[in-house]
Amino acid sequence: MKRLDGKVAVITGATSGIGAVTARLFAREGARVVTAARSTGRGEALAGEIVADGGESVFVQTDVSEPESVDAAFETVFKRYGRLDVLFNNAGGSSSADGPLTSAPLEEFWRCLKLDLFGTWLCSRAAIPLMQQSGGGSIVNSASIVAEMGIPNRDAYTAAKGGIVALTRSMAVEFAKDRIRVNVVVPGAVATERVLGFFEREPHLKKQWDAYLLGIAEPIDVARAALFLASDESCRTTGQKLPVDSGILIS
Ligand SMILES: NC(=O)c1ccc[n+]([C@@H]2O[C@H](COP(=O)([O-])OP(=O)(O)OC[C@H]3O[C@@H](n4cnc5c(N)ncnc54)[C@H](OP(=O)(O)O)[C@@H]3O)[C@@H](O)[C@H]2O)c1
Repeated sequence: MKRLDGKVAVITGATSGIGAVTARLFAREGARVVTAARSTGRGEALAGEIVADGGESVFVQTDVSEPESVDAAFETVFKRYGRLDVLFNNAGGSSSADGPLTSAPLEEFWRCLKLDLFGTWLCSRAAIPLMQQSGGGSIVNSASIVAEMGIPNRDAYTAAKGGIVALTRSMAVEFAKDRIRVNVVVPGAVATERVLGFFEREPHLKKQWDAYLLGIAEPIDVARAALFLASDESCRTTGQKLPVDSGILIS
């Protein structure tokens, strides 16, 4: 028996980094995986790769920050599979345009809020009625250690990720009656292409490496944490934060 056998899982931001690795892992664990992001070329290539490996996957072009796009994506999922069991709200990420709030551009604040926080809120809003009809489900959100500790030059991103942690708790209480669990992964630095680029451009970020007791995480480390929270193995866990932080939050 695989850990996600028979489940339908939507993973947002699955055309690169943590999302793409999670899509492959969930498919290997028996899920029917819907990948949702903006880049059709990369999305379809990944779905094709999963299918070629014997899994089931489809790409649905989605902008998680646009209500009409999100509604259309979840309608497509329900038409195709008639159910929804798992949502991994993974789309997001900080950028080098962020900074102290006294100098960061206003647009960067709204970019972070719109992509990370509003995107999570919108996708959950579209997913929950489908999970209610399916008899329950698991939502896994994606925060960051910035929601738990102060890190320079990321004030806008911190506001968005802190909101996601609070929203996770609130949704968990709101929807427990429907057997919908809501948890959040809290990654420290993860070696994705985007983040390796930051270390080149912002050497002060690299200085934090020493505080990572177990070294910088790989995307698969976060994917495995998301898998646990998505699967029935965590059936009595809701409203919780699961750090994948190599010990930086305690060091
Ligand atoms: N990597 C880290 O060190 C780290 C640390 C803490 C938290 N996290 C969190 O983990 C998540 C994934 O990070 P990552 O490093 O794997 O990022 P990544 O490699 O940059 O991937 C981001 C994904 O989000 C998608 N995306 C961006 N804007 C979107 C939109 N408007 N609608 C739909 N999809 C969109 C991108 O695809 P398209 O461009 O095709 O849309 C891409 O698939 C993020 O929420 C990030 O905040 C990462």
